[in-house]
Amino acid sequence: MPRQAYVNGRYRPHGDAAVHIEDRGYQFADGVYEVVPVYNGILVDEDLHLDRLDRSLRELRIEAPMSRASMKLVARELMRRNRLSNGFLYMQVTRGVAPRDHKFPKNATPSLVMTTRQMKPHSAAMLNNGLKVITVPDERWARCDIKSVSLLPNILGKQAAVDAGADDAWQVDGEGQVTEGTSNNAWIVTEGNQVVTRNANNAILNGITRITLLELIKAEGYELVERSFSVEEAKAAREAFLTSSTSFVLPITQIDDQPVGNGHPGILTGKLRQHYLDYMQSLGKTA
Ligand code: PDD
Repeated sequence: MPRQAYVNGRYRPHGDAAVHIEDRGYQFADGVYEVVPVYNGILVDEDLHLDRLDRSLRELRIEAPMSRASMKLVARELMRRNRLSNGFLYMQVTRGVAPRDHKFPKNATPSLVMTTRQMKPHSAAMLNNGLKVITVPDERWARCDIKSVSLLPNILGKQAAVDAGADDAWQVDGEGQVTEGTSNNAWIVTEGNQVVTRNANNAILNGITRITLLELIKAEGYELVERSFSVEEAKAAREAFLTSSTSFVLPITQIDDQPVGNGHPGILTGKLRQHYLDYMQSLGKTA
């Protein structure tokens, strides 16, 4: 059976799945999304993702398309149809279809789309060599805490990285402080072995991987602080890494033209990645 997608109440072949041309997601980027990792058939931190989806919807005054229980049923049915065991589930909710007009439509029904994608394990090269990031000005709006589908600055940053032969771009605010990657949260480890990541406010998306890793770091007793850090501090750090639902924890070994630490993936970064993988593995055992 070909891969299927869920679109507004129907399971459709992925290649034919479509929403209307006047969907406000298409015309205004008037919508939000989630990417939930699927590991050994388990939706990792599903409720935290659905909590964040609810929050994004509330902030934009978009109604939930269905109950949480129904969302979970649809997600599982789509995973079953697509035989998804490792990869991710993508969920997108928009304000719905209406004649193009900036103000909220009166009676639009929110559109809900879900898709799945299989993911190969991260390559040995990526894990052994680490990633290169460049730094770019953060040109986004003041509500980066909302997981909006409006991602132009993010895709321009990512493409700038690709054009420069790098893997991603760290976005930098007006004070020279790193906010986050184009689709991930940014972390460093200081010379004193302190793990540092920016505090969660409107300037960043509070990543679910970030939230879970913070808990694992506390549980393991590593030193941790949530604060801003500058590009200079990151370049002088002992280690750097990023987190996201598709990357888990991945080492960064170069920022702009400068190697991070000894230029190899950090030891603590490797441990944290393993803690995160163990955490995902443990979910399967309790489910
Ligand atoms: N991106 N910051 C931004 C700007 C993001 O887009 C993401 C996730 C994160 C990390 O969040 P989480 O740990 O919940 O995945 C941080 C997803 C993966 C994406 O857009 O594909």
